[in-house]
Amino acid sequence: MFDFPIFEMPTIGLRMLMAINAIIHVFVSHGGAVGGSVVLALAAWWTNKKNDLAGYETVYRLLMVFFIITTSVGALTGIGMWIHANIISPNAIGGLIRVFFWKWFIEWIVFNFEVILLLFWFMSWKPKAESAEGRTKSVKFGIYYALSSWVTMLIITAILGFMLTPNFDGQPWIDPEVYPGVVNYNNALFNPTWIPGLAFRTFSSIAFAAALAIMWTWLITSFSSDAKIRETKERMIRFFAKIMLITVPIGAALGYFYLLQIPEAARAMIPTAMMTRAFADKMELMYTIISAIGGTVVLTTIIAYFSPKRMPYIAATLMVAAFMLFWGYEERTREFIRKPFLIYNYMYANGIRVTDVPYLNKVGILKHAVFVDEDKKVLKEDKSNLIDVGHTIAQIECRACHTENGINGLKFLTKGWSEEAIRNRINNLPGGGTPYMPPFTGTEAEKDALAAYIASLNKRGEIK
Ligand code: HEC
Repeated sequence: MFDFPIFEMPTIGLRMLMAINAIIHVFVSHGGAVGGSVVLALAAWWTNKKNDLAGYETVYRLLMVFFIITTSVGALTGIGMWIHANIISPNAIGGLIRVFFWKWFIEWIVFNFEVILLLFWFMSWKPKAESAEGRTKSVKFGIYYALSSWVTMLIITAILGFMLTPNFDGQPWIDPEVYPGVVNYNNALFNPTWIPGLAFRTFSSIAFAAALAIMWTWLITSFSSDAKIRETKERMIRFFAKIMLITVPIGAALGYFYLLQIPEAARAMIPTAMMTRAFADKMELMYTIISAIGGTVVLTTIIAYFSPKRMPYIAATLMVAAFMLFWGYEERTREFIRKPFLIYNYMYANGIRVTDVPYLNKVGILKHAVFVDEDKKVLKEDKSNLIDVGHTIAQIECRACHTENGINGLKFLTKGWSEEAIRNRINNLPGGGTPYMPPFTGTEAEKDALAAYIASLNKRGEIK
């Protein structure tokens, strides 16, 4: 373990680094790729069926926007997810790859098909749009593209579900090294939150994509110099609103069903996850946030459906903004409630395996810090490098969630605390009020070093 160089992100911290990338990726992958492919394939099929050539052209212009965003921002942040996950938690990625190797491999192949199909659909649209036969063929590309997009979500949601509900059945077979014998990879795939999570994400993504389509249709049709395109505004917006009328209630119901599958201990953390610890007991605030997001979606959908022509642009942007808030909250909450684990009951957020804790408490956490310089991990006899050693421990055990003096900075959290108080807190880390923190792992001497380092953060400048 810990045989990777330590990567730190000052000020914003690793959590925020990952969150920024992940949330942008969810916007594009859910709204642009998975939902967008379904919504645009449906729109292409519908306009072609009605022989509505101007509408069909509007769909092409929408596809151009979706195409540019998914192949640039979507692909970049997708790679970003891999890079960030690898440098932040190589242990977790290692564990997940071991369990999901073939599934991930298939996902990668399908993803390549997805990109090729999107390229084909977009590039061949114009030449094929000339004839009815060509259009019918083109619509088929759209349908295949939508299917392949969905299959990538099918596999990724299995991995996400696994991290929250690994389906161990009391037997953590995940790690053949530690638990020889009972290896059951199908248990990992068919974990309890996979299908509910997939179903909820599928419908909510389609709804989100329809909202994005409404916003872009508004722009494309309102500012078009072609009168025929301008005329499509009303029927296209109404068509997308109809998709929302169907998918929003189904998505909400499935979201509730998904919520019920989440383990009790994780569900109890939802208020803290949504509103931070300071507001965790303000349940009415949480319901206000949920109602505001839900209310905005419902209201703007009704406006779009009944008054597509006069729908103000602000309503279309509010609709999209509500969905962005929703996905932002959903992702933050889903990630947070899994704490203190990265893989439930198996690996802590700092990459330490639960089963390794007794061993590491005996030999110390620093023993396996391969890439760390000797004088930053081996305490000198005169203890002159105590703070440096403590710093290394914080880098290993705390940096997943804390920075030194930025977001969730240890310096500010312990302002005014004595070294003794810090030492006591480390001794009792998850404590009563912070169940999301993993316990301290390591020896008593390492606790002293960590306490000395944290105490030094508020003393800097005073010394010397
Ligand atoms: C899984 C994420 C996570 C890890 C890992 C983690 N913490 Fe925390 N810690 C938090 C969060 C979240 C808070 C709450 C911050 C707040 O209240 O604003 C917190 C709060 C604290 C506080 C303030 C507690 C209080 O009573 O007010 C201290 C001290 C602290 N952490 C120390 C540590 C140390 C030392 C480590 C490493 C050994 C560590 N934490 C590891 C997430 C984590």
